[in-house]
Amino acid sequence: MTVYTATVTSPVNIATLKYWGKRDTKLNLPTNSSISVTLSQNDLRTLTSAACSEEYESNRLFLNRKLESMETPRLIEVLKDLKKLREKVENSEGNEHLPKLSQLNLLIVSENNFPTAAGLASSAAGLSALVKAISKLYELPDSLSEISKIARKGSGSACRSLFGGYVAWEMGELSNGEDSKAVEIAPLEHWPNIKALILVVSAHKKDVSSTSGMQLTVKTSDLFNYRINNIVPQRFEEMKKSILEKDFNKFAELTMKDSNSFHSTCLDSYPPIFYLNDYSRRIIRLVHLINEKSVKENGKIIVAYTFDAGPNAVLYYEEENEKTILNVFYKILSEVTGWDAQKFDFKNQEYSKGQLILSDEEIDYSIKDGISRVILTQVGPGPQDSEESLIDVASGKPK
Ligand code: DP6
Repeated sequence: MTVYTATVTSPVNIATLKYWGKRDTKLNLPTNSSISVTLSQNDLRTLTSAACSEEYESNRLFLNRKLESMETPRLIEVLKDLKKLREKVENSEGNEHLPKLSQLNLLIVSENNFPTAAGLASSAAGLSALVKAISKLYELPDSLSEISKIARKGSGSACRSLFGGYVAWEMGELSNGEDSKAVEIAPLEHWPNIKALILVVSAHKKDVSSTSGMQLTVKTSDLFNYRINNIVPQRFEEMKKSILEKDFNKFAELTMKDSNSFHSTCLDSYPPIFYLNDYSRRIIRLVHLINEKSVKENGKIIVAYTFDAGPNAVLYYEEENEKTILNVFYKILSEVTGWDAQKFDFKNQEYSKGQLILSDEEIDYSIKDGISRVILTQVGPGPQDSEESLIDVASGKPK
């Protein structure tokens, strides 16, 4: 049997200027532009293989070894768009010899390298990997921004995962969504020393999904209109500038303010949506305390928090301040899993006994009761081709 396959990996991205609100739910068009940092795939990535064959009787999708439906409205749209682009390739002059892949059913096999239980938003990595794997299988000549519009229909934030480094999702103006796409602000190499410490909050019950949470906010929050009309447009320009100038102080301030602004519109929804919990708030307080000390010492903010639709904290900092930041968090969280000795030499005197920016009395040790895991990572590249196929070419089945 002939099986055509392609495999890619795709990253997680964490927004520093949040997408929250849709102006069109079918096309997934946002009410504001957003910005994100793409994270390293060494720590967080989705590996996806896509295959098609005449022998496949239906479309099938395996996520982390579980069979999932491909008949969801979003996936139907995504596949329709990808097939249309493939048809265009097949029908263009000189390509008559190409196999008619657009007419075949698909098998998609996808796996994350991080525990789903961590409650990390995996939809961005998952959807972008699916779209990228099928575009590779179909040998589509379209640009990443073009492909990002298809990923956007699968899950808004997924469009940003098609690029590495620092990424903007331009909201666009057209009602057909043709100008609502992801673009690169700056590649990874421009500002490679941005690191991220993710603090995973222990067993919390499932939050309101982003999709339905943002609908409630759009419908009921008074603050929301103020945010999208009076705050985000200027912030979007300022944040892009801070990235281009590698101005961490500004970037960090805008990131924290935007996380707070987004969570305020959640609280202002009716009934209110609570994504942050008490541990999230304690982390926020601790970060401000670290920054206050640092501003006193050298006038600079050195760490920024941001929270998505859940209580997990993502802290961004520059590599040069890693010891200062990790010393504090290791002191509190040394017992939780995830401290990687290769990335953070916590046995080294310098780290464990180094000068702490906070005094013992200032450190809130109770934070450790609410955190189950840490992930140490950093800014990373966009989707990559992979040789590690999850589909056996001879049998056409998942491995
Ligand atoms: C808080 O992209 O998951 O993480 O488009 O409905 O799939 P859908 O929503 P999704 O929302 C992400 C919301 C956020 C902010 C962000 O990533 O910008």
